[in-house]
Amino acid sequence: MDDTGRQELIQRAHLAKESAYCPYSKFRVGAAVVTHDGKIYTGCNVENASYGLSICAERTAISKAVSDGYKQFKAIAIASDQVDRHISPCGACRQFMREFGLHWEVYLTKLNGDHQQMTVENLLPLSFGPDNLGGMN
Ligand code: THU
Repeated sequence: MDDTGRQELIQRAHLAKESAYCPYSKFRVGAAVVTHDGKIYTGCNVENASYGLSICAERTAISKAVSDGYKQFKAIAIASDQVDRHISPCGACRQFMREFGLHWEVYLTKLNGDHQQMTVENLLPLSFGPDNLGGMN
């Protein structure tokens, strides 16, 4: 991703955070994923009174894209209200990203838009994926 694309994606993740439904944790998260052909899908965390049913922002965004037919992604940006540290995706979301490849970018942001750039592979080394089952990757 070039700098402009990266900045736009980060901004979209922060905007998506505005829709977070998190009455229990009060921890707002937004994500924005860009497809191989440049389309952006956003998502937020959606919690539930039955806590374990809550879904993270990253999985919301990726599921929206996949349900529109996309399986190839260039990058995902993740945003929260944390000021002093970058938001870091949970293990479930790392595995969910990995389903769609190891070599795409993940931007972990702070509230001020500062970001740390990783890849899915950096975040989930020695992973188990579709190739282990003779699947797509
Ligand atoms: N959460 C996300 O949506 N993404 C992350 O990367 C970390 C955690 C959500 C799940 C839950 O709604 C809230 O943040 C607190 O864990």
